Amino acid sequence: MRVRRCAVVFIEPRERLQFEFAQLLAGGSGLEARRQWLALSAHLDAEIALDEAELRALGQLPVNDWTAMDALAGEIPDATLASLLDKGLLIADIPEHAAIRAKDDLVRGSHWLALSAVMHRHSRWQGVDTLAAEDEFRKQTDRPFLERLGEAEPLVCERAAPARRIALERAGDSPLEALIRQRVTCRNWDATRRLARADLASVLYRTFAARAVSDAPGIEVMKRAVPSAGGLHPTEAYLLVQNVEGVAPGLYHYHPIDHALEPLGSVDTGHCQAMALRMVAGQQHFRDAHVLIVLASRFRRTAWKYRNHAKAYRAMILDVGHLSQTLYLAATERGLAAFITAAVNERDIEQIFALDPMQEGVVAVTGFGWRGNRVEEAEFDPLGSVWPIPG
Ligand SMILES: Cc1cc2nc3c(=O)[nH]c(=O)nc-3n(C[C@H](O)[C@H](O)[C@H](O)COP(=O)(O)O)c2cc1C
Repeated sequence: MRVRRCAVVFIEPRERLQFEFAQLLAGGSGLEARRQWLALSAHLDAEIALDEAELRALGQLPVNDWTAMDALAGEIPDATLASLLDKGLLIADIPEHAAIRAKDDLVRGSHWLALSAVMHRHSRWQGVDTLAAEDEFRKQTDRPFLERLGEAEPLVCERAAPARRIALERAGDSPLEALIRQRVTCRNWDATRRLARADLASVLYRTFAARAVSDAPGIEVMKRAVPSAGGLHPTEAYLLVQNVEGVAPGLYHYHPIDHALEPLGSVDTGHCQAMALRMVAGQQHFRDAHVLIVLASRFRRTAWKYRNHAKAYRAMILDVGHLSQTLYLAATERGLAAFITAAVNERDIEQIFALDPMQEGVVAVTGFGWRGNRVEEAEFDPLGSVWPIPG
């Protein structure tokens, strides 16, 4: 059997505080610091605790050359090699390791900057319920939430005294200004009103459609409403359609050149809301949006040009932000409402749409639909653009 170490692994010396009754009885604070070495790799979701021998071995193992296991036995104890194999940090060329080898090969072939790859893999959630977590937080603290956070940073960063500031003219009214003022993140939906197919088509077109395709730079690129690093447009739109006339509830992928929906599977109306809730990590206030859209970055599209590049990951996240704002405005233009959230269960979404996290990574979920006529969940509308200001 031949082996090599996984392609990307970072080691974190982590300290955890643990409550120890004995320490409290001995006159201490009751909190004892426990230190451990954790391996964070780009091909495994779990954080892996290491002992000192495993830690040392990770620095000795070959990373690129497949090496006979016997040849390593002189340098590294058999038990350590066996436990690293078991933990998935040492990869073997035998059929039983095919699945984990494929995950490692994917990292090797995708030109990720190692730090970005680890950051991406280990910042994904599964099964998180943010509302339940907030309740738990409130229960655990007897002090008010804001007091616990301490003083916030000021709203504005001031770098010159007021007298030295050069006052500028305000922009006048315009259709764009009106649209910007109407944009308010929606947390109250009218699930009794179906969205017209034309509204769905319009918002998708304005936000995601290719207005032109060109191969002038030597590769195929498209012109979209938003800028994109290298003109590469790595962001894909995956839809959960819940409540649209003439479009069956279900999962879809948007094709930006054909301006068409690619069906990926139907979802029973009864299951749609549960799926939506799972995607947005239990945020009830986004559950009834008529359409939810997963924004997922196709990393290899960007990394093809920006190989092992320190800015590639950042550029892909920025892409998603541009698309989201455009979607808000496209929805607002039609009298609809929109939202975005980064508090999403990426791993659940990957399962729903069959996405590999290192090839097509979930960054955020946005959505739109008809706003309801009652405020059950707060929205930020100090201008009274959507909701009348009381009194
Ligand atoms: C990256 C990002 C993540 C967000 N995540 C959440 C979220 O998890 N839950 C939520 O209710 N709103 C979320 N929002 C919406 C913000 O709370 C909202 O933009 C902010 O309160 C200002 O309100 P406005 O959009 O109406 O101006 C998010 C916005 C952005 C840009």
